Parts: sequence; C-alpha cells; structure tokens
Amino acid sequence: MKRLLMLCLTACILMLSVSAFAVGPHDMECMECHSTHYAKGDYAVGVKPIFSENPARTRVSANIVDIDALCIGCHNEEEGILPVNMHTTHPTGITPTYTKVPRQLLKDGVFSCVSCHNPHPSNANYKYLIMPTAEGGNMGTFCAKCHPNQSDPESVAAAQAIKLNVDGTGAPIVKVKAAAE
Ligand code: HEC
Ligand code: HEC
Ligand code: HEC
Ligand code: HEC
Repeated sequence: MKRLLMLCLTACILMLSVSAFAVGPHDMECMECHSTHYAKGDYAVGVKPIFSENPARTRVSANIVDIDALCIGCHNEEEGILPVNMHTTHPTGITPTYTKVPRQLLKDGVFSCVSCHNPHPSNANYKYLIMPTAEGGNMGTFCAKCHPNQSDPESVAAAQAIKLNVDGTGAPIVKVKAAAE
C-alpha cells in the first residue's frame, strides 16, 4: 500500500514537472496530431478525423469538415477530452459574410476552429486563442477582432492594436490527398 502511494506520488510529481514546462496541454512531440507519413485524413495528421453528421448547422454541408473534423477527432464525448458539441458551438466551417475576419485566420477561405485557436505548443495564450485575453478576463477584445460592428469603440481599438498569434500567412493548406466527398 505504502509502495503504491509512493508510486502515485512520483507519477504526480513527474506529471506536474512535465506540465510546468509545457505551453498548454497539447502534445509537444507533435506526433499526436501530425503523422509525417501516414495521414488519416486530408492533412498530414495522425488523428482519425470525425466527419459526424451535423444536422443543426446552416450554411454548411451536413457534415463537419476539414480541420474541424480533426479537432473533433479528440474533443468528442467518447474520448472525453473537453468535448465540443457542434450543435451548440459558435459557427465554423463557413465562409464569413458580415464579420470582419482577418484574412490570415481563414484556411482556404473557410472559418474554422483554427480561426479562433492556434493549437500549437508555441502559442502560450489562454485556451490556445489566437490573441491574449488576460487569461479569459478580456473576451470583449477578442470578440471585437471579428465583430467590430457589435463591439464598443474601446474594445475595437484594443483589438486592432493586438498582434495575432498565427503561424501561417493564410496560404492554402497543402492537402495530402483529395478532400473526402
Ligand atoms: C492539437 C493538434 C496539433 C498539434 C499538437 C500540432 N499541430 Fe501542427 N497543425 C495542426 C493543424 C490543425 C494545422 C493546420 C492549421 C493551422 O495551420 O493552424 C497544423 C499545421 C502545421 C504546420 C503547417 C504550417 C502552419 O502552421 O499552417 C506545421 C509546419 C506544423 N503544424 C508543425 C507542427 C509541429 C512542429 C508541432 C509540434 C511542436 C505541431 N505542429 C503540433 C495541429 C497540430
Ligand atoms: C490528439 C488529440 C487532440 C487533438 C487532435 C486536438 N486536441 Fe485539443 N486538447 C487535447 C488534450 C489532451 C487537451 C487537454 C485536456 C485537458 O486539459 O483535460 C486539449 C486541450 C485543448 C484546449 C484547452 C487548452 C487549455 O489551455 O485549457 C483547447 C482550446 C484545444 N484543445 C483546442 C483544440 C483545437 C482547436 C484542435 C484542432 C486544431 C485540437 N484541440 C485538437 C487533445 C487534442
Ligand atoms: C469564435 C471563436 C471560437 C471558435 C470558432 C472556436 N472556439 Fe473553442 N474556444 C473559444 C473561446 C473564447 C474559448 C475559451 C472559453 C472560456 O474558457 O472562457 C474556447 C475554448 C475551447 C476549448 C476548451 C474548453 C474548456 O472547457 O476548457 C476547447 C477544447 C475548444 N475551444 C475547442 C474548439 C473546437 C474543437 C472548435 C471547432 C469546432 C472551436 N473550439 C472553435 C473560441 C472559439
Ligand atoms: C476570428 C473571428 C471571430 C471571433 C474572434 C469571434 N467571432 Fe463570432 N462570428 C464569426 C463569424 C465568421 C461568424 C459567422 C457570421 C458571418 O457570416 O460573418 C460569427 C458569428 C457570430 C454570431 C452569430 C451566430 C449566428 O447564428 O449567425 C454570434 C452571436 C457571435 N459570432 C458571437 C461571438 C462572440 C460572443 C465572440 C467572442 C467570444 C465571437 N463571436 C468571436 C467570427 C468570429
């Protein structure tokens, strides 16, 4: 019993020291998301994307697509990793109409999970958001980045001054195989 306790303690301390160096909880070894040679979806990604039915969405196909399907590959009820329910989430998988989305946040012109999140370990922002939000205490500025028409002038000015944490330049993503129909 005592040995078991010691084992647990050691494991906890090890886990703590690992997370102390990590920037966010995503895999620093990269390979949990990316597969260099054996992609399971359209991108060089090792996670099996989930293209589940998505009947509640409008303006998009009935299925979750592309990058969103990759995120949902882990963030679903079955995996139990902070599940995201596509029926109730902010619109994704659409082409923006009235919002002012900075171009580099769109992948192939499409608004997706990575329009708001940069999931890379290099991004130290709260919840991997594409800009700092004072650890979630300043969401108005975040919303103002794309919704200036709905936001107060102070937040709009603040949002304009903030640099986005994006790694691409809005170039089209290189797909490893043709998109699944
Ligand atoms: C949580 C999943 C996830 C992890 C972990 C991850 N990536 Fe990515 N990566 C993505 C997604 C999704 C894209 C495509 C969209 C984008 O660029 O944001 C991408 C795109 C890229 C690109 C293309 C350029 C770009 O940024 O658009 C490179 C290069 C890359 N990743 C390298 C890495 C490396 C190196 C690591 C480890 C340090 C890593 N990735 C970890 C999900 C991940
Ligand atoms: C390989 C599985 C995997 C994939 C794919 C993945 N994630 Fe995660 N994600 C995780 C894990 C594990 C955590 C940590 C869960 C926890 O803290 O309980 C996490 C946490 C998060 C968090 C919370 C971060 C925090 O600081 O609390 C966000 C936001 C997130 N992921 C967004 C995304 C987005 C966006 C994508 C798609 C680009 C994605 N994830 C793809 C495994 C994944
Ligand atoms: C409009 C911007 C936006 C889009 C699009 C978006 N998210 Fe988020 N997401 C957020 C914000 C803001 C938070 C932080 C909420 C908070 O903690 O107050 C968040 C939090 C999260 C978390 C952490 C939840 C938790 O309980 O800690 C995960 C996981 C996540 N998002 C995944 C996704 C996935 C997967 C997609 C695509 C299907 C997505 N997000 C699309 C803005 C967005
Ligand atoms: C990176 C850009 C971006 C950010 C940041 C963002 N949104 Fe959005 N939002 C969009 C896009 C794109 C749409 C779809 C409308 C369109 O066609 O332009 C949208 C639509 C909406 C809608 C209307 C939903 C509907 O039914 O059409 C609401 C409400 C909304 N966003 C709230 C928020 C809030 C609150 C925040 C901050 C927590 C936020 N958004 C942050 C891009 C963004």
